[in-house]
Amino acid sequence: RRIGVLGVPMDLGAGRRGVDMGPSALRYGQLHEALESLGHSVEDYGDIDVPVVESIRSEHRQNGMAYLETIRKACQDTLEQLLSFPTDAFPIVLGGDHSIAMGSVSGASRKERIGVIWVDAHADFNTPETSPSGNIHGMPLAALCGLGDPRLVNLGWEGPKVRPEDVVLIGIRSLDKGEVGLLRERGVTVYTMKEIDTLGISEIAEATAEKLQGLRKIHLSLDADVLDPEVAPGVGTPVKGGLTYREAHLLMELLADAGIVTSLDLVEVNPILDRENRTAQMMVELASSLLGKKIY
Ligand code: ARG
Ligand code: MN
Ligand code: MN
Ligand code: MN
Repeated sequence: RRIGVLGVPMDLGAGRRGVDMGPSALRYGQLHEALESLGHSVEDYGDIDVPVVESIRSEHRQNGMAYLETIRKACQDTLEQLLSFPTDAFPIVLGGDHSIAMGSVSGASRKERIGVIWVDAHADFNTPETSPSGNIHGMPLAALCGLGDPRLVNLGWEGPKVRPEDVVLIGIRSLDKGEVGLLRERGVTVYTMKEIDTLGISEIAEATAEKLQGLRKIHLSLDADVLDPEVAPGVGTPVKGGLTYREAHLLMELLADAGIVTSLDLVEVNPILDRENRTAQMMVELASSLLGKKIY
């Protein structure tokens, strides 16, 4: 397979600094070597140019949202870069905080209908009205579904980029009050940790593949904080009780078997809060499992 890698070194959507170093940490964690050893050809398109926070302090808050214009621009650039990828390439976008997914999902869709598997401790389904923090990395999935500030919703072209019924959330264990209402109202499929504990990750992988089957494009947005903080300490918004090492791998392995995923984000890796780059390394391993690594 042909794989195209794009970095988005942005931490403006997060409440803490450091995920802007995620793309470096993932490359340092030998993403390219790992994928090439599986027989893929990997082309790296470098990083999107994102201003550092010190240079845009004056922009800080608009309608309760931090750095909206700069985030919008970075997502717009991401989307345009992805549209210029070779059409047969599998895009991997390296974050960066999760707000980059507004650009990556839109770009990966190439304006076609696209399913989204959002693997995360959080739903990132806030609007400016429901967000307790004002941090835009808590809003990208809602924006993709057409909810929230029109400057984010209408990124690239007007209107929603994803239908709520084409979204599956996996690993959820931290929701804000307003998000619960919005997710229910829109009919999004939500697998919390409780379902993972009771059903098992294999049944959830199967149900996800079944739910989204028939869609030609499916994007997997993998937030490092879905993992238990003991496995992945390098994240800015850790929540205890997350996926174990094996649950995360099994999910990737089963999605690989199903052969349904057509693009990928690796986001929210914060090497400053990490120990010896473990979180980035784990994300690289998970990408390998998704892209065909087999033991036997
Ligand atoms: N729900 C919280 C908020 O909106 C946390 C979001 C965390 N998002 C993330 N991509 N890590 O502020
Ligand atoms: Mn997230
Ligand atoms: Mn998260
Ligand atoms: Mn065992």
